[in-house]
Amino acid sequence: MSQELPVQSSQVPDDHVIVLFGATGDLAKRKIIPGLFHLASAGLLPERYRIIGTAPSAFAMGSDAFRVYARDAVQRYGSNLPEGDLWDQFEQSLSFAVGDTADLGTLHLAVTRAESEIGAGVRRLFHLAIPPDAVLGVIEALGACGLGENSRVICEKPFGMDLESARTLNNVIKANFDETQVFRIDHFLGKESIDNILALRFANRLFEPLWNRDHVSFVQIDVPETLSIENRGAFYEETGAFRDMVVSHLFQVLGFLAMEQPTSLEAGPLRDEVHKVFQTLRPIDPVQVVRGQYEGYRNEHGVASDSTTETFVALRAEVENTRWKGVPFYLRTGKCLAQSRQVITIGFDEPVMRLFPLSDHASKWRGNKLVVDFADPGSIHAHFLAKEPGPRMHLDSAEMTFHYKDSFQAANNLEAYEHLILEAMLGNRSLFTRSDGIERLWEVAAPLLEHPPAVEPYAKGSWGPESITRLIAPHDWCLPQ
Ligand code: BG6
Repeated sequence: MSQELPVQSSQVPDDHVIVLFGATGDLAKRKIIPGLFHLASAGLLPERYRIIGTAPSAFAMGSDAFRVYARDAVQRYGSNLPEGDLWDQFEQSLSFAVGDTADLGTLHLAVTRAESEIGAGVRRLFHLAIPPDAVLGVIEALGACGLGENSRVICEKPFGMDLESARTLNNVIKANFDETQVFRIDHFLGKESIDNILALRFANRLFEPLWNRDHVSFVQIDVPETLSIENRGAFYEETGAFRDMVVSHLFQVLGFLAMEQPTSLEAGPLRDEVHKVFQTLRPIDPVQVVRGQYEGYRNEHGVASDSTTETFVALRAEVENTRWKGVPFYLRTGKCLAQSRQVITIGFDEPVMRLFPLSDHASKWRGNKLVVDFADPGSIHAHFLAKEPGPRMHLDSAEMTFHYKDSFQAANNLEAYEHLILEAMLGNRSLFTRSDGIERLWEVAAPLLEHPPAVEPYAKGSWGPESITRLIAPHDWCLPQ
């Protein structure tokens, strides 16, 4: 195990050898390889770097084949095409080495060779884009062969399947790495619009004074997806929507929405505040949960014919502190739903007295709403009442909107993974999750995992089982708008 590595203040990381575990997998192909090339194109990879793809022998390929594979990945999923000098340079940095956990000798050699080509002062970054059950073995193997020394390691979610497995995983990580070397990635925290929640709240006087139980009547974090489970039947059977999306992503978003202002944006204070939210998050009451399964799920490849895994979950969460007590946080996500959206809605109370008649159109008005659409490129909408033109004092609903794409230079955009890989190379852990936070979230999840309500069927293309209306009453789901 080695000592803490300093956070870099520059924008461009020190020279690096990046080792990508799971290089032949879906995540590497769709996100990580194209993301690394985009970072290179944006001038945000180090001056000198090497990228070594690795996988167990059963999936091994030669370095030339890996370069072809990477080109195809960038072509299909990247934001810029694999061509020109930039691509040539990126391609030359790629190689492949077999990485069997029983013997990481070949990989060790490849890393040492790459480091000696680059020269002194080079850093190591291991990105573990591998299934949860493979993580323990790789962490132990890296520790045992000494490759973990002076390195940083990015671990992918889910971090365990419950409290016990998360503790085991954290213990193995702690035995082999210093916590400062570990970057547990939750890509929702790399999204521009999620980071912008901090700016929206703490850089503007306009919203923060109202951001509490005296003014907010509910919060919704709604992430429906039209996507099915695609070819991930076996993975999904193990995880389900709650573990895949809520314990990982939606709770992290809730942490940013509900936290107090940190003393700074450094990793320590920022993550302390998020952790305090998790500590005050009430264990989920299974009565306040709807689990759904889309019709036809049981016929998907890799899925049991009597599966009770949920592909949809909606629940009410509560943060029991002075700022939020009594304010329901409604979370919803699922596969094969009517729309793909990523939306936060803060619903505000109505004024105590209603002075004005509303137009028919606004008769369902229930108070101001602030809507953060955090699907890239993202937007924010404030819903309010305004006087209808004309002689009478009739009000109708109106909207003020901010669109990222119209307001800022899109060229600077980094996709969530790109942003987080860059932060990991710079050594900044602010946007990464912490072991105690993860364990607390599994504690919060425990009552539901132990006593899950029965799954209710829902039609593909719908908004989930009908009972979600009962769950949210007397409020309504803000989607579809
Ligand atoms: C992943 C989940 O972590 O996030 C997927 O495993 C989900 O099931 C995805 O579709 C959603 O993320 P994105 O990239 O659409 O923000």
